[in-house]
Amino acid sequence: MAIRKAGFKVGVIGCGLMGSGIAQTCAQSGYETVVREVNQELLDKGLARIYSAWEMMVNKGKITQGQADEHKARLHGTVRLEDLADCDIVIEAIIENMEEKLRLFPALDAILKPEALILSNTSSLNITQMGAVTKRPEQVCGLHFFNPAPVMKLVEIVKTLSTSEQTIETVREFAISLGKTPVLAKDTAGFIVNFLLIPYLLAAIRMLENGMASREDIDTAMKYGCGYPMGPLTLLDYVGLDTTLWAAEAIYEEYKEPLYAPPPLLRRMVNAGMLGRKSGKGFYDYS
Ligand code: CAA
Ligand code: NAD
Repeated sequence: MAIRKAGFKVGVIGCGLMGSGIAQTCAQSGYETVVREVNQELLDKGLARIYSAWEMMVNKGKITQGQADEHKARLHGTVRLEDLADCDIVIEAIIENMEEKLRLFPALDAILKPEALILSNTSSLNITQMGAVTKRPEQVCGLHFFNPAPVMKLVEIVKTLSTSEQTIETVREFAISLGKTPVLAKDTAGFIVNFLLIPYLLAAIRMLENGMASREDIDTAMKYGCGYPMGPLTLLDYVGLDTTLWAAEAIYEEYKEPLYAPPPLLRRMVNAGMLGRKSGKGFYDYS
């Protein structure tokens, strides 16, 4: 399948933190985009996030009001899965839960045209298994964006045991058309980035848990000592503690290496609803 922006339609499933950023990226790159949420309230919240990003870009002089209006006209929200039936590429960005993803993939497979590709934005889950519950496993792969999706340049293309070379080439071309730099990873838990990033984030939680330094000093140390844009605890709040916990569990499940085992504090915070920025409280307070 050749990528032609005109007439090419992208579907995004989930309009949370990542789905909204991915839908924004696709629409502002010139693709007709339809994004699906589970209910109108969550859809409106996700769309509002996208509209305010475009407003911010207009205010900064990065795009004109006319361009923002064009982006907006290309983006359609829905709560009906069937509204994605004529999409050429669908990117799944729902919660990091295998059961939910295994419910979604066959439902998508049943409504999409035969040549459409299904991509997962999962951080760590097994994409080969998601492909296996469809009748088109060779047209399923990972396209893993980084948060914030409109800004971060990297995407990981994840090849499952069944993904065809043709699918990988189409997805590579698509990623480049979004202004991203793709890398190719095998379908192993955490792929490249999270295999390396998650142990670092968990180690920062263990430091805090063990009273080795304050949250501010841990963050300041890594920001100014290593030149990272954010300290690890700020980044955890940014990514979401729930998503980090589920990703760590998935990688631990695969390798059983202690460095991937979620620290008790992370689990307790998620139990308490302290999910980071999205819930208003995490390692820091955002209310
Ligand atoms: N749309 C368009 N532009 C946006 C945007 C959006 N939604 N959000 C931010 N921007 C732009 C801003 O306009 C700004 O542009 P200019 O510099 O041209 O003015 C630029 O991005 C930087 O934003 P800010 O000025 O608001 O803030 P900042 O300089 O502190 O940068 C940051 C914010 C880009 C998030 C930076 O702190 C950063 O890179 N942090 C680390 C993020 C990171 O590591 N992400 C990966 C997480 S791991 C992951 O995602 C994988 C997983 O599976 C969990
Ligand atoms: P989130 O909780 O912000 O958003 C998930 C959204 O999916 C929710 O709004 C939920 O209502 C919606 N949803 C659930 N089931 C759905 C369905 N069947 N149809 C449509 N919408 C549905 O989570 P997030 O941080 O955006 O993570 C989404 C995915 O992206 C996860 O797989 C996660 O691992 C991955 N990811 C997250 C990050 C990050 O930094 N947070 C980075 C890269 C990848």
